[in-house]
Amino acid sequence: MNEVYKKLTDCFESIKDKIPFEPKVGLVLGSGLGNYADSMKVVSEIEYSSIKGFPVSTVPGHAGKFIFGYVDEVPVVCMKGRIHFYEGYPISDVVLPTRLMKLMGIKILFLTNASGGINPDFKAGDFMLITDHISSFAPNPLIGPNIDELGTRFPDMSSVYDKDLQDIIRSAAKDNGIALKEGVYLQTTGPSFESPIEIKAFATLGADAVGMSTVVEAIAANHMGLKICGISCVCNLAAGISPTPLTHEEVQQAGRDAAPLFEKLVRESIKRF
Ligand code: HPA
Repeated sequence: MNEVYKKLTDCFESIKDKIPFEPKVGLVLGSGLGNYADSMKVVSEIEYSSIKGFPVSTVPGHAGKFIFGYVDEVPVVCMKGRIHFYEGYPISDVVLPTRLMKLMGIKILFLTNASGGINPDFKAGDFMLITDHISSFAPNPLIGPNIDELGTRFPDMSSVYDKDLQDIIRSAAKDNGIALKEGVYLQTTGPSFESPIEIKAFATLGADAVGMSTVVEAIAANHMGLKICGISCVCNLAAGISPTPLTHEEVQQAGRDAAPLFEKLVRESIKRF
């Protein structure tokens, strides 16, 4: 059996008796947005560190566990803390949690993240509905023997972010008076922030926001046929646009400041899924 698939199925076997229900939505929480789980009706939790072979996040502010609960009536598994490529894990480990949630039964993957704003109309604290992405600066998680059990060798990528889910998020934002920008998210590997000329280049390529996650997870989820949506919290202006040097603390603080409204947008959207 394919090694990556074996590791995935071993992880699944080791936790399957602890999964309380079949979740419909997998929700991935970005930097500083990790307290969202506090606003769901929590049923149970599985610590990443208790799953054999599971990568454990090393980033401060990224506590690692799956939280099972209900948002309104919708059964959700929430990833509190994600795995980033810059931590040194192979890319197949970075997307292992996404694949594991598919085995748990999710139909929809809801990705969130913190980003740097490139679009000149953006300011810190804005929310951006992700309409498309640029993956060319991060390793492709499907490299290696194809896992036929999960999906096809050459997946189409022409409509990764589900149009109906985008409409639901737009209307949830509108009905709750929450301003929502839209745009293209570009993933770098990190962990260094970008140079000003890289940001200029990314703007030319069509990116509206930049960050260190999400796209690889979307590629793995798309491979498996999941419906995908994403919202980015613009936590700072990207390098060269920002008048000050960037820090992780600034990004986390902006995430914390935006969290209550962000949580509301996520909650109101999931209710309508
Ligand atoms: N660049 C990359 N990743 C980020 C940024 C940024 O400016 N802000 C938050 N995550």
